[in-house]
Amino acid sequence: MTQRPRLSVIGTGYLGATHAVCMVELGYEVIGLDVDQAKIEALRAGRIPFFEPGLPELLAKHIDSGRLRFTTDYAEVAEFADVHFVCVGTPQQKGQYAADLTYVESAFAALAKHLTRKVLVVGKSTVPAGTAVRMAELLTELAPNMGVELAWNPEFLREGFAVEDTLRPDRLVFGVHSEWAEQTIRSAFAPVIEAGTPVIVTDFATAELVKVAANSFLATKISFINAMAEVCEATGADVTQLADAIGHDVRIGRKFLNAGLGFGGGCLPKDIRAFIARAGELGVDQAVSFLRDVDEINLRRRARTVELGLDLNDGSYRGTQVAVLGAAFKPNSDDVRDSPALDVAAAIGRRGADVRLYDPEANANARRLHPELTYADSLDEAVSGADLVMLLTEWQEFRSMDPEIIGNKVRKRNVVDGRNVLDPVEWRGAGWIYRSLGRP
Ligand code: UDX
Repeated sequence: MTQRPRLSVIGTGYLGATHAVCMVELGYEVIGLDVDQAKIEALRAGRIPFFEPGLPELLAKHIDSGRLRFTTDYAEVAEFADVHFVCVGTPQQKGQYAADLTYVESAFAALAKHLTRKVLVVGKSTVPAGTAVRMAELLTELAPNMGVELAWNPEFLREGFAVEDTLRPDRLVFGVHSEWAEQTIRSAFAPVIEAGTPVIVTDFATAELVKVAANSFLATKISFINAMAEVCEATGADVTQLADAIGHDVRIGRKFLNAGLGFGGGCLPKDIRAFIARAGELGVDQAVSFLRDVDEINLRRRARTVELGLDLNDGSYRGTQVAVLGAAFKPNSDDVRDSPALDVAAAIGRRGADVRLYDPEANANARRLHPELTYADSLDEAVSGADLVMLLTEWQEFRSMDPEIIGNKVRKRNVVDGRNVLDPVEWRGAGWIYRSLGRP
């Protein structure tokens, strides 16, 4: 093994494209592969096919350097790289809780068939416990007598901060079964390790579980505060002050205690559901049965938001114009997968409202899923003539809205703050009827 192994990244979605570009930034030579020709062409042309702050600049910086290229050809990848990162998606199966492992299985199989020498294959996709052992067997079966080895290396990057999280992660987790595999994966992260990043070396099952355990904890923290928001609504208490007060206890911490419309995206919802499904198969469903509550509390917040808007609209959405601010599952992202904001927008649309939706980055993705809604090109256009304004994704542009300026554009000064980011005193002072989730 050379000092600096050559790397491949298989699957160039949110995770893979970021990983490929950042590894070049860290000094490696990288080849990225995807089966989607259009994605590869976009990347070759220097275009990132999704919104991620900082990533287009890094791609532009490296695309001409010769140290980063993209292909759809497994043979080219197998020939080039010493360490292969598998970064393909594991979406939720249709109509079921379990994860769909088709892409993982086909990526491992396709790569294995083309391997000609001993390499390290590193799984980064989020998978149910037990997948790594099966993938190791698959490698031995399809690439026999070469000593190909597997490592599992979960990824914790957050969309919107993906570059920072990849270049400077808060920890590295390596699931390995041999000294050679450990040394090889260490050489693939040398600059990150030299920067002092903590490394946890463990077995396959622990490495797989670290990821789902971390996401389950985060989801639980959000649903805990949203459960408190429900209690606050019944008692007249203020969930934001409650979160501030308990968050000062360092054992609890203030992060991930923002009550509101709850979590969505391509990770937390499907990961907790896949965990419930896998725990059932393992005979330990009771151990994670609380995750069903976590999921239910989260979905109840969406229904509650629809109700709040209904109250302000005198019991019916029919014939009213509603400005929905936000479609992405969180700010600084164009991702609308399992987005609470888009879900609420669609539900209101089904109840007869004329929805005018505006998101600074996610309009195009939202339109693909919900072409029946009307999309506005600006905040101004969305709120003009509205009977109700609903802030559902907390983009800075929405957080800093002036209640007077917006008030002069709408028909009625009714606002639902689905993310608890507006100042109720200021908005009420400007004559708005202000409602939020868990604040009086
Ligand atoms: C998450 C994990 O944070 C990351 O470590 C993992 O690798 C992938 O899943 P991401 O999906 O990018 O990352 O989003 P994150 O920032 O964690 O937010 C998830 C959801 O929770 C968003 O919908 C967000 O709006 C919501 N959220 C977050 C809250 O409702 N309240 C909070 O206090 C924090």
